[in-house]
Amino acid sequence: MLTKIRDLLFVLTLPRTDAVTLYDGLAARYDRFHRRWLIHVGGEPLAALQGSLAAELRAGMHVLDAGCGTGALARWIADMEPGVHLTMADFAPAMLERAKTVPGRHVRANLLALPFADGEFDVVICTWALETTEDPERAVEELHRVLSPGGLLCLCLCTAPESPSSKLRSLPLRLSITHFFSGRFLRLDFPEQLASRSLRRLVSRRGLASFVCWRKPPELRSLIS
Ligand SMILES: C[S@@+](CC[C@H](N)C(=O)[O-])C[C@H]1O[C@@H](n2cnc3c(N)ncnc32)[C@H](O)[C@@H]1O
Repeated sequence: MLTKIRDLLFVLTLPRTDAVTLYDGLAARYDRFHRRWLIHVGGEPLAALQGSLAAELRAGMHVLDAGCGTGALARWIADMEPGVHLTMADFAPAMLERAKTVPGRHVRANLLALPFADGEFDVVICTWALETTEDPERAVEELHRVLSPGGLLCLCLCTAPESPSSKLRSLPLRLSITHFFSGRFLRLDFPEQLASRSLRRLVSRRGLASFVCWRKPPELRSLIS
């Protein structure tokens, strides 16, 4: 209880600033906040993502966790399939520093301009990070660009509920995520470019979080065209 109160006071006093500074400031407490998010909202989409990864990952694959944060998901991947070549990318140095306990390549990078070659990865994952960027559509383009033809893109996202009652009930949570964690709640059919062709999509019971995965057709070069 005391920890919860301390965390709340900490968040209330965080300066409103850019996302890099914000996540650097949050890094030491991030895992605790994140656990609460998973218990109350994000657990189902994350479980769906882990199910898809468990079926997909094989030794030798190149996997990117973009916006890896403290590396919790990357750690899960490394434990499940130690033979993958894992790259963890994040633009907040203090978050990335924590991910360094997970074996692999650690790259300070912006999701809007990833320093990786076209088609470099067999699997690209991004959990709860697109919605903290200035331009989530652009970030999806980048994730898609670095994915190999036939590769799998897996996303977990904060999504905005559609029913008026869910909208009302979730208002305090949505406001706090937006205000304190620089996040936003994307449309349920985000990313629109992939919506009609997704392989699997799961929306959490209250509509506040979603999982979507998509396989890049071998012939498709860009999502824009
Ligand atoms: C809510 S956390 C999610 C972390 C992790 N993926 C997870 O599931 O716990 C968002 C992360 O995305 C990173 N991030 C936000 N915007 C970014 C950007 N434009 N480029 C790279 N990383 C970004 C933040 O630094 C932070 O570590």
